[in-house]
Order: sequence, then structure tokens, then C-alpha cells
Amino acid sequence: MSADAMTVHQAQHILYTAEGYVDEELWHRAAALLRREAPISWVEGPGITPFWALTKHQDILEVELHNNEFLSEPRCIMGTAESDAKLKTDGHLVKSLVQMDDPEHRLHRNVTSEWFLPKNLAKLDGRMDELADQALQKLRDFGGECDFAADIAMQYPLQVILAILGLPESDYGTMLRLTQEMFAPDDSDFKRDEDAMAGLMQTLFDLYTYFTNLTAERRANPTEDLASVIANAQIEGNPMGDMETIGYYIIAATAGHDTTSNAMAGGMKALIDHPDQLARLQADPSLMGTAVDEIIRWTSPVKQFMRTAAVDYDLGGQTIKAGEDVYLAYWSANRDEDVFADPFTFDVGRTPNKHLAFGFGVHYCLGAMLARMELKALFGKILPHLASVEYAGESALTKSGFVSGVKRLPIRYTMR
Ligand code: HEM
Repeated sequence: MSADAMTVHQAQHILYTAEGYVDEELWHRAAALLRREAPISWVEGPGITPFWALTKHQDILEVELHNNEFLSEPRCIMGTAESDAKLKTDGHLVKSLVQMDDPEHRLHRNVTSEWFLPKNLAKLDGRMDELADQALQKLRDFGGECDFAADIAMQYPLQVILAILGLPESDYGTMLRLTQEMFAPDDSDFKRDEDAMAGLMQTLFDLYTYFTNLTAERRANPTEDLASVIANAQIEGNPMGDMETIGYYIIAATAGHDTTSNAMAGGMKALIDHPDQLARLQADPSLMGTAVDEIIRWTSPVKQFMRTAAVDYDLGGQTIKAGEDVYLAYWSANRDEDVFADPFTFDVGRTPNKHLAFGFGVHYCLGAMLARMELKALFGKILPHLASVEYAGESALTKSGFVSGVKRLPIRYTMR
């Protein structure tokens, strides 16, 4: 499809279908068209519940900052018309932070917010360094060719998050599979069942069983890990409900994994695509902090969240009526020409970099600091030893419009 030939309707279609996310260049052309011609546009289509698509940074920011006017309940991510209808009648099977509004949200976020503070995360530095060493050793062991996405990027954040939760290494495989099934139920590499909805239900059931057993264990024998904090949490003096406890585990185990691995794989791809930036970063490691945020802006692993208007709200001259849903297109916001100088330039020294990849406001990513630490640890360890790197085959993106990115990245490299 040529840029000129694309219509607003076609661009919207690319935005809301899982297929739209497998072609990065086409997706960005669609988003740029929407930012230019229809930044707040009403979207209707087969199999979806209509919504307002927001593609500009300032509109998304405004919605995130007005969390009393724009609620996470009942529709916090894009589903199918069928799953949305079920949500409105049955509510969430398992509810977690991202689906909650205040005061419930605040009370539940407080359970672990201490845990994710820098002073506490600093304790993890040693373990993270050890895992980054292992990743470096793996690269050496692969002997010059590997799939960086599957062999390195997908493993490392999962190891970190499970170490934080205090889960045994023998469970890593199970958790990796369940997370990928949950975030990309339409992707043929990850889906459990031909019927994506049925597959998702099976995945949720397995997660439920796994975490119910874990809760019982940590209530009987509390330890110092995050799993024990969650299992023994009190909300206003009462134990947290069973389903909420499960929801908490699921978000802690899953939100911190695929997101960060997508940033890592996408980051490596960006560095291969921009060898001048790779050389610049290798020559000046003090750029690692800005490089990590640029990688996160560039890849925007979480493609969207949604909110539902609680009241009629005037947004950018458009009235969003109470009960209508808005779609926050983070990847688009992060290429907004009005906010970023040369948004399509990958610049490891970019400052300022006010990207929205971690969201904003009360739901701002709880693991943002942790994710940055992980990316710094991994690239900080690998890059000094990477003498050359190039593609060894075709890379591929996940077919998912929620958490997605580079799922296959065959590379050929030499180490020093
Ligand atoms: C590059 C990696 C990551 C990205 C891009 C990312 C992105 C996001 C986004 C966009 C949100 C929703 C924000 C909003 O609605 O305003 C979110 C929420 C959240 N993230 Fe992350 N995340 C990442 C890594 C992590 C990690 C490592 C963890 C650790 C467990 C984590 C845990 C959470 C949790 C618990 C929430 C819910 C917060 C709430 O609703 O109050 N994330 N993340």
C-alpha cells in the first residue's frame, strides 16, 4: 500500500488488528497519517467495539492525567466485540492493577510500590549482573550465530522477574510459555488453540492453578520475596481477596517479562539498523542511560491501553461522551513530530525524551525503574565485547497489538 493510497479508514484498520503490527514501516505510516489527518478519530469495524483512537502525545497524556474522568474499568485494553461484551456483563475473570480505578487501585498499588523503589531494587544489582554475565557467556557459547530474541532477550527478563518473585528455575519454561500465550493469543507461534479466546481461557486457568498453589505455600512459609509480599498482603486491614492475589501475581510475573524482552530484542535490532549509533554507544558507555530510554521509545513494547470516559469530556475540541472508550496508541505518541525532534531518527543520546512507553499518571509502570536497570545491565555487559553484529536471516515481529515486538532476530556476530 503506498502512503498516498492509504485512507484514514485503512490506517485505523492497521491500528486495531493484530496483523497490523507485523509490518513496522506500514504501521508507522498509518499512525503518521492518523496523527496528521484524524488524531482523535472514531473507529468502527468488523468484530470490534467502536472506540476513539488517540494518536497524539498530548491527547494521550491528558487522558492519563485525568484518571477520574477516564477509567480503566471496564475496558482497559482492546479486545474483540465478543470479549468486550462478556466483560461488560461478567466483569474480569481475574482483576489486576491495570483494570482498577481509585480508591481500589491506590490501595492495591501500595501493596508493592515500596518493593519497586530504587533503594530496594538496588539490592538486585548483583543478581542482575550475574544474569547479564550468563547472557554474555551464552552469546560466546552460541559461537557467532543465534536468535537474539529467543535465545537471549526472552530469557533474561523472565529470569529477573522470577528471581524477584522467588520462583524456582525449573518453572521458567512454564512461565515463559504462559506469558507469551497470554499476550499474543493470535500469534501462530504462541497460541494454544485455534480459537484464540478458548486458548486464552486455558492459559488463564493454568496461571490460576500455579499461583493458587504458590499463595498457599507462601502463606504457610513466608519468605523475603515478592511472592510473600503479595500472598500476605492486607487491604485496609483485611487479607487481599483470592482472585485479586492471583491477579497481582499474574501482572507481576507477566508485565515485567515480555515487555522488557521486546525492548531488548528491538533494541538490538535498532543498533544493527543504526551501526553509527552502536559505534557511538560502544565508544561512550556514559550514553547508556539515554540509549536505554531511546530503545524503549523506539520499540514501545506496550502498544496500547484503553480507558472509558466516566463523564462527557472535551478533548482537543472533540467531545468524548460518557461510556465511550479511548485507545491510547503509545507507539504513535512516541513518534509524534510535535514532541520529538526527528522522531524517526534513532538517537542514543536523545534528551529530552518524554516518551510515553511506560504510560503516565497513576498507572505509570510500576516496573519502569527495574526495566531500565535490566536493559542497562544487559547491553552494558554485552556491547563492550561485541566486535561486529549483522543479520543472519529475516527478523519477525509478533502478531499482536498489545504487548509486541521483535520475536525473531537471527544474528551473526564476532566477540572480543
Ligand atoms: C520496557 C519494559 C516495560 C514497558 C514498556 C512497560 C509498560 C507499561 C505500561 C504502558 C503500563 C501502563 C501504564 C498506564 O496505563 O499509564 C505499565 C503498567 C505496569 N507495569 Fe510495566 N512496562 C515494562 C516493564 C515492567 C516491569 C519490568 C514490571 C515489573 C514487574 C512492570 C510492571 C507493571 C505493573 C505492575 C503495571 C501496572 C501499574 C498500575 O496499573 O498501577 N512493567 N507498564
